[in-house]
Amino acid sequence: MANKNFKRTLVTSALPYANGPVHIGHLAGVYVPADIYVRYLRLKKQDVLFIGGSDEHGVPVTIRARKEGITVQDVVDRYHYLIKDSFEKFGISFDIYSRTTSDIHHKFASDFFRKLYEDGKFIEQTTEQFYDEETKEFLTDRNIRGECPRCHALGAYGDQCEKCGATLSPDELINPYNAVNGNPLTKKATSHWYLPLDKDQQWLEKWILEDHPEWRPNVYGQCKSWLDGGLKPRAVTRDLDWGIPVPVEGAEGKVLYVWFDAPIGYISNTKELCDANPEQYGTWQKWWQDEDTRMIHFIGKDNIVFHCIVFPAMLHAHGDYILPDNVPSNEFLNLEGDKISTSRNWAIWLNEYLVDMPGKQDVLRYVLTANAPETKDNDFTWKDYQARNNNELVAIFGNFINRAMKLTEKYFEGKVPTCGELTDYDKATLEEFKTVKADVESLLDNFKFRDAQKQAMELARIGNKYLAETEPWKVFKTDPERVGTILNLALQISANLAIAFEPFLPFSAAKLRTMLGMETFEWENLGRTDLLTAGHQLGES
Ligand code: 2FM
Ligand code: ZN
Repeated sequence: MANKNFKRTLVTSALPYANGPVHIGHLAGVYVPADIYVRYLRLKKQDVLFIGGSDEHGVPVTIRARKEGITVQDVVDRYHYLIKDSFEKFGISFDIYSRTTSDIHHKFASDFFRKLYEDGKFIEQTTEQFYDEETKEFLTDRNIRGECPRCHALGAYGDQCEKCGATLSPDELINPYNAVNGNPLTKKATSHWYLPLDKDQQWLEKWILEDHPEWRPNVYGQCKSWLDGGLKPRAVTRDLDWGIPVPVEGAEGKVLYVWFDAPIGYISNTKELCDANPEQYGTWQKWWQDEDTRMIHFIGKDNIVFHCIVFPAMLHAHGDYILPDNVPSNEFLNLEGDKISTSRNWAIWLNEYLVDMPGKQDVLRYVLTANAPETKDNDFTWKDYQARNNNELVAIFGNFINRAMKLTEKYFEGKVPTCGELTDYDKATLEEFKTVKADVESLLDNFKFRDAQKQAMELARIGNKYLAETEPWKVFKTDPERVGTILNLALQISANLAIAFEPFLPFSAAKLRTMLGMETFEWENLGRTDLLTAGHQLGES
């Protein structure tokens, strides 16, 4: 059951690999929904922390470095700052965006491993792994290529054939070779530490399948299928020269598996933030070890098993930590009918969008939320982007506010007119519009961001319809007082839009608040029709 009596909410968003820029799939799947949620909670004056950061270990960054002929540190430095900058420019309002190469993280992850090691939570196993005799290195799945056993395509990866899509293990490849230098490979024994997940099967089944039926069906279903298949021990160390050294004697040349250290990054980043600002945020332990904290992980679907099974098992093995309350994972976003692919450069990169479409961050946020892959994979098309911009943001949202402001300028010198007696039609409009708050709230509380934004847009639709039907431009000559009432209500609806859209379109909402001269904006006030007092001077429309 969801924790209803929480005092604070810790929101984490997957740490993207610092091996390239981030694209619209990342934004739609993880960062925009997480940001909407966090902004909403802040508007409700709740205690919330939003943790982000770059995932700078693992094989992908090393592959990128080799490809570009630069050091791995250069790669992660370059992309960490590029990614951080893109997020900032899209208004993703992290409390901290740090990185897993930080000293704090290295020490924290290392200590975490050592505690589990000393408490006897790992098992050690020796297996035969592919080895390059010339470079004297063990190879990870991605660095092994060979002929696909299914479709016989050459150059299939050790974990997947890109031609036929088959999931593979390196052992299945025909004539495996080192992807970097083409060397043939031999097998060599190596020992690693494993988290014996089979021992966690029972409590995980109860915790997920019985205690969390409210999790999204895609998340619940994927967990169930992992659990039904029976959990097996998972290696938490790797033979690699990039990463956090395994803090155990005799483990030279081994590092923590990237999926072991990355989620610990959520904790070490929290620690970094809290240690630097204890008065503002309190202790990191308050956020991670207190039952009154509710933790939510925002992730993409390829991360489900790690956040719902492996990381909870690590936290449980450690013993001092709370577990996530919910893991609202999205499905994938495709681009123009085709899977987004970094290797094929089929993506809309955020850093490029920012250059090509300056000032249009809210448009992309809006379209990605309107089309969010919440329950199934979805498609982004430029045609849909254009239609949603023109028919919704401009024709409904922008048009309504523009009319309300312009008419007030024209008839009342830009001052909020007095609200007179309400007609039955006015009252009906207000009733309709007051239910929107409860609807949006309940949708946001249930992580239904797409529907929540649609409902928020209802406010603008109601406003538009109200102006179209009351036709103040026709009434002014005969009944200016009536026009005052109409515009007063239209402006109150505009002020409500400035609150309701702050989580979704933070830049436009801020602009709107300035235009309306609103000093405070709280979620609490949504649905009120006295947000702007009569006589109040509006800003420039
Ligand atoms: O899939 C990814 O991009 C991973 N870098 C996500 C890590 S999430 C967390 F564990 F840090
Ligand atoms: Zn194949």
